[in-house]
Amino acid sequence: MREWEGSVAFITGGAQGIGLGIARALGERGVRLALADVDEAALERSRDELSRITAVEAVRLDVRDRAAFASAADEVEAKLGHVTLLFNNAGIAPYSPVSELGYDKWDLALGVNLTGVVNGIQTFLPRMIERGRGGYVVNTSSGSGLVADASPNVLYVTAKFAVVGLSESLRSAVARHGVEVSVLCPGPVATDIVRNTLAADEGVGIGLGGSVREAVEAYLAGGTDIDSVGEMVVAGMEAGALWIHTDDAVRPYLEARMAALLESIPVPTA
Ligand SMILES: NC(=O)c1ccc[n+]([C@@H]2O[C@H](COP(=O)([O-])OP(=O)(O)OC[C@H]3O[C@@H](n4cnc5c(N)ncnc54)[C@H](O)[C@@H]3O)[C@@H](O)[C@H]2O)c1
Repeated sequence: MREWEGSVAFITGGAQGIGLGIARALGERGVRLALADVDEAALERSRDELSRITAVEAVRLDVRDRAAFASAADEVEAKLGHVTLLFNNAGIAPYSPVSELGYDKWDLALGVNLTGVVNGIQTFLPRMIERGRGGYVVNTSSGSGLVADASPNVLYVTAKFAVVGLSESLRSAVARHGVEVSVLCPGPVATDIVRNTLAADEGVGIGLGGSVREAVEAYLAGGTDIDSVGEMVVAGMEAGALWIHTDDAVRPYLEARMAALLESIPVPTA
């Protein structure tokens, strides 16, 4: 069992959903929390709740804004202490029919779901390395970061595959600095991500609508609850797991993908 008490966690998308589940699991272990999010009302609610169990700072931060990320890091480290646990979790669930894709949709989808993760790493990793006291980075990807054909959603799959590749590579690269890396690959989790994505749409039209929206919302509502996900994340960190899963929904797709991938490799001729 690791000793988490007294360490400081920075959680993007920490105002609600999976980020809040992670915050609760850490807060119950005495971790001091910095919650960063664009949703100020949700931030306030979560700060009020979590400040009953631990020290909490809530900062409005758009993860695409690099200067604001650096300022947020300075601000929370001055108040809570050095961040050693980083959760790059903020994300949206963008969707577009492929015939309606455009650069505005790519920029929004990759900006939040991929560059937001890069910005978190680039803000905090140099600080962790320079201080020489190690750290832990958990990036939130998805089952859609491991298999593409479970969901024909190129905007989402592109970013989430990249987050898996980034995390796997980063894990080897930073091991010598005592920094550990895991990637969370959830299956369906009961959150309001569909509604929150519409709120983050910025007029580019990447939100789900109509009966598709209702079907996806119903599917997610039957998914894992956020508190269980928070506990799975802490358990995964304690085990030093590279991939952290929340269920086995991805298994048949992953088995088929791995088999096809191996099959596609030419057998060397003698
Ligand atoms: N819910 C699921 O079924 C599911 C499954 C797989 C992966 N995920 C991933 O989990 C992560 C969290 O999603 P969730 O389901 O908890 O959704 P959520 O909407 O409940 O939480 C996401 C949070 O990120 C915040 N956010 C959005 N854009 C932001 C930005 N630009 N800057 C800062 N904060 C921003 C939102 O305000 C929200 O509070 C996402 O990366 C998502 O892709 C979710």
